[in-house]
Amino acid sequence: MTDNETLERLPDSLPDDPMHWADAWLKEATAAALQTNPNSMIIVSVDANEQPSARVVLCKEFVPDPGYLVFYTNYQSRKARELTSNPKSAALFHWDAFGRQVRIEGIVVRSPEAESDRYFASRGWGSQLGAWGSDQSEAIDSKEQLVAQIRQRGANLGLSLADGTQQLTNDTIPEISRPPHWGGFRLWANAIELWISGEDRIHDRARWTRDIVRSSEDRFATTPWSGTRLQP
Ligand SMILES: Cc1cc2nc3c(=O)[nH]c(=O)nc-3n(C[C@H](O)[C@H](O)[C@H](O)COP(=O)(O)O)c2cc1C
Repeated sequence: MTDNETLERLPDSLPDDPMHWADAWLKEATAAALQTNPNSMIIVSVDANEQPSARVVLCKEFVPDPGYLVFYTNYQSRKARELTSNPKSAALFHWDAFGRQVRIEGIVVRSPEAESDRYFASRGWGSQLGAWGSDQSEAIDSKEQLVAQIRQRGANLGLSLADGTQQLTNDTIPEISRPPHWGGFRLWANAIELWISGEDRIHDRARWTRDIVRSSEDRFATTPWSGTRLQP
């Protein structure tokens, strides 16, 4: 990676560190703050009937070496259930203002418990309560019922909430531990495409692939990236 000028086009001799390029793009989009959630990405899962589904999550860590990204969710949600039975996934970032798209494919595994604990502890208590309070992806009859459920679970955690609200009755910030059904996933990349918008739809595209082989519960051994320029 060099400077911004280099980022406007992919060089003919393709770089061998595409995850670093993507990471630099994410950092640039974050610094520019042109959108509320520059770290938002679409994550795809596939169910037992081979039906794909997509939704936005926030990329909370992008680790170019050895090459995975992290998002957090409810482990009982639809996406988590599908990714657990079929861990093949795809992620997509689109930074419209920059004319850039990053497509990543790979294998999803759960983050180490200690990493999820650390991240959960860094969140505000309201979000922490939300993780306990919502059975993500399950049906519920009304918003009122959802709020009542969250308040009930807050009471179970020992929180003192004002009548009918999710406001604390005192200023003491409660300590809430991570629910066992909530935590991180790592998407380990075995393919990545960088796309840069070009004039007259002559865009720059290149796709890199590599082999990843599971070496432990949450780690993979990786081969070097091999890149190919693609027609737009
Ligand atoms: C900007 C944005 C950020 C989101 N971030 C997350 C997230 O980090 N984790 C999450 O579980 N859901 C997040 N969501 C909600 C998901 O898109 C989705 O509604 C939810 O995870 C349930 O998906 P599922 O039923 O397919 O599992 C986000 C939605 C938006 C629009």
